[in-house]
Amino acid sequence: MENDLMDKVVSLCKRRGFIFPGSEIYGGLANSWDYGPLGVELKNNIKRMWWERFVTARDDMFGIDAALIMNTKVWEASGHLREFSDPLVECSQCRKRFRLDELESAISKQIPNYKSQKTVCLECGGQLSQPRNFNLLLKTFLGPVEDDSAVVYFRPETAQAMFVNFKNVLDTMRPRLPFGLAQIGKAFRNEITPGNFIFRMREFEQMEIEYFVRESDWERWFDYWKDEMKRWIADLGIDLAHAHEVEIPDGERAHYSKRTIDFEYDFPFGSKELYGLAYRTDFDLQNHEKASGENLKYRDPDTNEEFWPHVIEPTWGVDRSVLVVLLDAYREEGERDKKRVYLKLPPRLAPYQVAVFPLLANKPPLMEKAQGIYKTLQDSGFKFQVSWDARGNIGKRYYAQDEIGTPWCVTVDFQTLEDDTVTIRDRDTAEQIRKPIADLAMYFGEMIA
Ligand code: GAP
Repeated sequence: MENDLMDKVVSLCKRRGFIFPGSEIYGGLANSWDYGPLGVELKNNIKRMWWERFVTARDDMFGIDAALIMNTKVWEASGHLREFSDPLVECSQCRKRFRLDELESAISKQIPNYKSQKTVCLECGGQLSQPRNFNLLLKTFLGPVEDDSAVVYFRPETAQAMFVNFKNVLDTMRPRLPFGLAQIGKAFRNEITPGNFIFRMREFEQMEIEYFVRESDWERWFDYWKDEMKRWIADLGIDLAHAHEVEIPDGERAHYSKRTIDFEYDFPFGSKELYGLAYRTDFDLQNHEKASGENLKYRDPDTNEEFWPHVIEPTWGVDRSVLVVLLDAYREEGERDKKRVYLKLPPRLAPYQVAVFPLLANKPPLMEKAQGIYKTLQDSGFKFQVSWDARGNIGKRYYAQDEIGTPWCVTVDFQTLEDDTVTIRDRDTAEQIRKPIADLAMYFGEMIA
């Protein structure tokens, strides 16, 4: 199943309203994707879980939500205008462009013992150019005149807005070290080879934390965030055997990092970066202070000592989170007409937590009773989304809910009309239990918490 798992998940996403190809009615736009009604619920549940865990529930974290386009001086000071590039090679025949690192890894799979003779195009056999650095910043113009002075860049990471707002947060919130700034938002990169569905896109979302510490404490906090990231991966429902920590060696880290660990996931197309953890030192605050002339130091309230705090940066891609949650949750069971596909999503991440049906749609007393339960659950004040379905037969409705990962289905049958109990069917085991209607909201509330 591993080989076509990706195709199955992409097809399920399209068929059931999770993710659609972008601009589809115009033939699409290469590698752009739109989240549909169920996808946006799943994505929002992931973002909500992240925000509640790392911002709302903590006293040492402050959220921001900054502009997508920042002053170009930000990208000069951060080093992105100079350094944020991937080596690219181009085929002189078919004009296809490749990222050098991906090309090397593809060639080494085809030709064992291959050693850097990156001269031949894998697509057409044409001659490849020498590698040159291609800057990934996505450009646009601000204002009516499209000249050099109007060029601006969409942010390639949410991180810089947290360094640029460091002084604002210090002045308004008066935090003491260690503390962090957190942000969820879009980032843009003019990737050379976007692809693999929502794995590598030119427009994507990040959840990032810049955690400010004393230099002497950086290793302790690096380990702390490593553990937090592992805990997060497990709480997404991911089997930890599918995720690995990879230490990024000298020479391969981003220009700002003194230590980086990538959390890789075993995607169907290979082991690739899911999340990253970097020790950014005081690189960013120092450079922004030098470039802006603003004092970006922290003053210790006890000793009056002034210094640039050092930064531990855990970073999570939202879209890669959605992808791994779907890949890890996908299950098939049974054969041919008995075949069942279900998404074993953690209940709090599923687009709907509960579905309510009448056993038969053409019996008004069942319909009315089921509608009443549906409304009561919706208004119960618990954090769950409820789906209603009265189409087709009951078996088809169960299968349809399994496929979108709804953990529980409530069915109103003739016994309900006599004793006010319903059946609850479990997505993973397909087992059914009976419960009084009066207990439902509390039961699901506790199961999801
Ligand atoms: N501030 C640090 C930073 O941006 P990164 O490793 O370049 O580090 C962080 O990006 C995360 O953003 C990655 O671990 C990945 O989850 C996600 N990401 C990066 N590029 C992406 C792309 N082109 N498409 C989708 N997600 C991407």
